[in-house]
Amino acid sequence: MNPKSDDSALTRVAAAQAQPNIALIKYWGKRDVALNLPVVGSLSITLDRLWTRTEVRFETGLDADRITLNGREDPKQLRRATACLDLLRSRAGLSTRARITSTNNFPTGAGLASSASGFAALVLAGDAALGLELSTAELSVLARRCSGSAARSIFGGYVEWARGERPDGEDSVARPILETDAWPLSVAVAITSMAEKAIGSTEGMNRTAETSPFQQAWIDTQEADLAEARAAIVARDFERLAVISEYSCLKMHALALAAKPGLLYWNAATVACMHRVRQLRAQGVPVFFTIDAGPQLKAVCEPAAAAAVAAALREVPGVLNVVETGLGGDAKLMDVAEAVAA
Ligand code: DP6
Repeated sequence: MNPKSDDSALTRVAAAQAQPNIALIKYWGKRDVALNLPVVGSLSITLDRLWTRTEVRFETGLDADRITLNGREDPKQLRRATACLDLLRSRAGLSTRARITSTNNFPTGAGLASSASGFAALVLAGDAALGLELSTAELSVLARRCSGSAARSIFGGYVEWARGERPDGEDSVARPILETDAWPLSVAVAITSMAEKAIGSTEGMNRTAETSPFQQAWIDTQEADLAEARAAIVARDFERLAVISEYSCLKMHALALAAKPGLLYWNAATVACMHRVRQLRAQGVPVFFTIDAGPQLKAVCEPAAAAAVAAALREVPGVLNVVETGLGGDAKLMDVAEAVAA
């Protein structure tokens, strides 16, 4: 049955899972707000134990999209979700509204990249429900338009999202650069607050672009950081990746701290974790930290060190919980019943 053949008779439904990714070389800043094009390229790792599972059900007779997030109707998320589905609807030549049912197995909106996994899962499920059969590159472009970092969560392992040069953004797309199995690092996520962040990434990066005196320096130095990280990954050189990743993280936060008013995403426990990670590395433990637009610290380490790193972070005052994960695979379609049961 061709799902595009008869708009009125069918409920079009599909479900997908995507995992958050963590940028080692950060995305911060947009060169085109409407198309969501970044001022810089970025490079990330995709996680495995954390996920978003999303069912999209296009139903005739709905007057607006509906979204249920973690079991509760959540109209706050509706504007962006509708804008995202509109991109798919316009490809399909269809106006039918949808019910979106989405679950995260980790805190939403607290700097754990829920928008990355959320929009990657939404785009993939929406594409399947509408029978569009887009390529992974096309899915990445669409996910990027919904939330930049979502472009990277279409893929597993080590992923680079190109800044792109074209004004229409069609070359601003993510691609996998190394598979998980080729270098299976571990990640310990130290959760230091369950609160939703006060200033989301979109607003934070726009304020930074308008007011931070370091914006141009950030743009000018990113290519060298990307090249260094790529070289470290190709060589599986942990220490080299550690140094460049911490540098990119601290540089992004320095840039944002210098906005007006300054963006301070860390709490005391975040900073204590940073010191603890550096102490461990000085003692020879292969571990480094990275932090996004929130207070959680992600410690990336070699698998043999994962248990010791997680134990050390659990001891840091203010750490509520430590989630241990490896690197994961591509976003994937899943059984509808399984997604909703999640
Ligand atoms: C700090 O992808 O959430 O996590 O494109 O406005 O939705 P929008 O921003 P978003 O920003 C992520 C910023 C970051 C760094 C990164 O993931 O590269």
